[in-house]
Amino acid sequence: MPGFSVTTFGCQMNQHDSERMEEVLRGGGATAVAADDADVVILNTCSVREKAEQKLRSEVGRWAKVKRERPDLLIVVAGCMAQQEGRSILAEMPSVDLVLGPDNIAELPGLLAELRMGSPPLVRTEFDLDAPRFLTAPTTLGERPTAFVTTMKGCNERCTFCVVPNTRGPERYRSSAELIAEIADLVSRGVREVTLLGQTVNSYRDPRGALPRAPEADPGDPDESEFAALLRAIAAEVPGLVRLRYTSPHPRHLTPSLIAAHRDLAIMPHHVHLPVQSGSDRMLKRMLRRYRRDEFLARVASLRAAVPEATISTDIIVGFPGETEADFEETLSLIEAVGFVGVFGFKYSVRPNTPAERLPDDVPEAEKSRRLARVFDVSERLVREHLAQQLGKTLRVLVEGPSKAREENATGRSERNEIVHIEDAARVRSRVGEVVEVTVVEAYKHSLLGRMTEAELARTPEGMPTRMRRALPLLGDKPSPGPRGEA
Ligand code: SAH
Ligand code: F3S
Repeated sequence: MPGFSVTTFGCQMNQHDSERMEEVLRGGGATAVAADDADVVILNTCSVREKAEQKLRSEVGRWAKVKRERPDLLIVVAGCMAQQEGRSILAEMPSVDLVLGPDNIAELPGLLAELRMGSPPLVRTEFDLDAPRFLTAPTTLGERPTAFVTTMKGCNERCTFCVVPNTRGPERYRSSAELIAEIADLVSRGVREVTLLGQTVNSYRDPRGALPRAPEADPGDPDESEFAALLRAIAAEVPGLVRLRYTSPHPRHLTPSLIAAHRDLAIMPHHVHLPVQSGSDRMLKRMLRRYRRDEFLARVASLRAAVPEATISTDIIVGFPGETEADFEETLSLIEAVGFVGVFGFKYSVRPNTPAERLPDDVPEAEKSRRLARVFDVSERLVREHLAQQLGKTLRVLVEGPSKAREENATGRSERNEIVHIEDAARVRSRVGEVVEVTVVEAYKHSLLGRMTEAELARTPEGMPTRMRRALPLLGDKPSPGPRGEA
């Protein structure tokens, strides 16, 4: 039986796509094996920043060497870089057998079969514009109480730095009925927290027009969408769901209806990842972000008025063409003004076929590094201060499993997305997938340590599916919400 391995570069959508590739291959009778033992090596690529592309090139180089020893090895380049570069990947990297776009995952088994029968290298990168396909979650139970659900694909924005509109195509949405059915199915199998995925997930519209208008939705507002209506429908129709997260929203669609959904729905956590990119109006305009600094701040203020304890994390680009020291200072002051808890910072890198490609990349690399380090200094301090303030507080934590760092602890996330390690894994064990009350006893750099309250210890666990409990030792920490990105 053929063995395959999938290596993922990049974002959560890619992670999700990799899982779908594994699924279709397993469905075709193949087995996931360690990369060194695989007959098919799939590299699921990212092209959002130059660094990710460099990594891919060196990875293909490594496999090309292996292929010289093992000529039967098939090398697949999938994901955004595949979509972006298409056939030219074959010219540049002759060891590659298949270039596969993100919309062509379902065709993978058939294409591999063609290659095994001696076909020359293949390229399949067509967007499924007429009949969008959304591959659903695996039929085998995930080993965590958390799951991602693709809500839409593509992006209709034209942020001038961004390659995603090219690599993922125009926006296509899943019907709310299909989404709700998938979430209900996940919940019936033990999932308690779902993250809705999409490039601008809050631009969502039901392609079948099946959703009623959400409270406070203004149909005359061009930034309005049906995302709030979707959240309400999920909350109403999947009662077993405990938490509903989403990523990534576009700030312009953080409209009153969405803020009202955050206020009204108990399943909405008190956290939003809201990429702002820059604090300078001049830069925001050049980036074509379609909001100004004051508009962003006003939306954050409305969110905080509705959900006072909400934490907000963000993405920042430093060194965009023309960014002066004064522009950059505005970014720093915005980070302080919002008090972001978690900043993903990136140095601008020119991407092929983006509008900003025509602008001179005029901030020197050393200056970009200096600015990024300053972003991290500020954001690290904000995270530290925020975590220190949690000492002694009682948080509601969704238990995900044992802590990777220390076996004797369990780990989970609070409503505000803080990572909370919980003492006494033996007693927390029976509560995986449940929300437990935890008193914070220590603050670390990017996470908290807590212990279950007396009241919580006295409560009888609800009891998760035994399969999920058996899977416990495999669970590990999720990425930290603290400052990340390129160092
Ligand atoms: N809306 C998408 C954005 C994808 S790109 C989402 O789901 O998050 C993720 C982040 O990478 C962006 O928010 C931006 O901060 C950063 N990024 C995108 N293009 C970039 C570029 N050319 N250079 C540096 N950073 C970039
Ligand atoms: Fe990229 Fe802007 Fe869309 S960052 S994914 S073009 S919202």
